[in-house]
Amino acid sequence: MPATSVIGAQWGDEGKGKIIDLIADKADVVVRFQGGANAGHTVIVEGRKHVFHLLPSGVLHAGKLNVIGNGVVIDSEQLLAEIDEFEGGGLRLMDRLKVSGAAHCVMPYHKAIDRLQEGTKAGVRIGTTGRGIGPAYADKAYRSGIRMWDLIDEERLRARLRANLDVKNRVITGAYDGEALDFEEVFQAAREQGRRLAPLVTDTGHLLRSLLARGQHVFFEGAQGVLLDLDHGTYPFVTSSNSDTLGISAGAGVPPAAIGRQLGVMKAYCTRVGDGPFPSELNDAAAERLREGGSEFGATTGRPRRCGWFDVPAARYAAQLCGFDGLVITKLDVLSGLRHIGVVVGYELDGVPLEEFPVDTPRLERVKPVVDLFPGWKEKLTGARSFDELPPACQAFVDEICARVGVPWEILSVGPGRESTIVRSAT
Ligand code: GDP
Ligand code: IMO
Ligand code: MG
Repeated sequence: MPATSVIGAQWGDEGKGKIIDLIADKADVVVRFQGGANAGHTVIVEGRKHVFHLLPSGVLHAGKLNVIGNGVVIDSEQLLAEIDEFEGGGLRLMDRLKVSGAAHCVMPYHKAIDRLQEGTKAGVRIGTTGRGIGPAYADKAYRSGIRMWDLIDEERLRARLRANLDVKNRVITGAYDGEALDFEEVFQAAREQGRRLAPLVTDTGHLLRSLLARGQHVFFEGAQGVLLDLDHGTYPFVTSSNSDTLGISAGAGVPPAAIGRQLGVMKAYCTRVGDGPFPSELNDAAAERLREGGSEFGATTGRPRRCGWFDVPAARYAAQLCGFDGLVITKLDVLSGLRHIGVVVGYELDGVPLEEFPVDTPRLERVKPVVDLFPGWKEKLTGARSFDELPPACQAFVDEICARVGVPWEILSVGPGRESTIVRSAT
């Protein structure tokens, strides 16, 4: 069976967690392949809220294997806290979670540097989650990082940590006026984390390739979204990994051809946390209405999310880049009660119409959105279970978006709960 990918098509927080949880009952394996604890995926099942930062969102389904691939950067303290919280709730996880030995560790100095860097006035402020993501990926690229294989081997850990911490402490104290970290303290904590995680650490690339060869159904769960991708997003206001379909192969250790079905998740409007261009952003009562109605506050940092209308050029860019086969449109219910719903159908740059999404960030910062207004609907949508049950204005809105993006919808989400969902095959 071909693998399925579920990828955020905007600036993150599109509702990927809910969708993975929803469809994971059809999976044998759910895989995270990039990002780290900067992700915050909220899943609501039978009224109970679960927030995952590092655990794949398939964990709620008993009997499914969950994999954290080599492309993820792992904060072991956070991962263990999530495992403990999960197992404390009475569910077993340790025997169905595997972690790549080649995944890099987010160490305490990465988090310290991430926060100290953001505090400085020099350079660009990105508004990171402060989870050490950029500094950990930088060390990976610099080839000085500590991998999970090293974490679980005391002697390797000691040597790699010693070499790293000397340099990092000089950066922390010299460049940022921060406080040096104590080697023994960092080492002892890391060693203990390594000891606990050791039974999970394996060659997950080999594991996934053999599972695929045996016809198992593998789901790849994206974190962040296309427009936060390091290479293809709104650089430098991006995260430090390939947070789209393009990152799967490298981040999981599977051939590109293994990914058969590609789902792009997009909200029926847009949000963004942190700094950077956001052409369809609203700063009026409508933004407040979307923020309140959609509870648009970050699951990782609690920050209010910036809100704006659905952006067609951005969504079309994401769809073309990733080759989405189907769209998942979430949070349609949040639009209920709006008299008019805006959709950014194009841009203008220096008075000239522009249909494409400019990937040169300074140009993107200067575009003016062209907004079309569509009629809204009053009805609440959360109880709808088929397309036919949606009000005609909502149906027209969905059809319009799909036609303009050029990809049909496969799933519509009309509420945070697992049940508030319309799946095309069921209509
Ligand atoms: P992710 O990072 O892409 O997994 O998304 P987040 O979990 O950070 O943010 C999405 C938020 O919207 C979560 O609080 C979800 O519970 C919620 N959510 C997901 N789908 C829907 C929906 O269709 N309607 C509403 N009202 N909320 C939704
Ligand atoms: P999920 O998986 C939304 C944003 C940060 C910042 C930029 C870089 O829940 O969709 P980083 O800490 O990665 O170096 O921050 O990326 N960002 C997210 N925004 N959802 C996320 O994850 C995000 N992960 C990172 O706000 O602008
Ligand atoms: Mg999120």
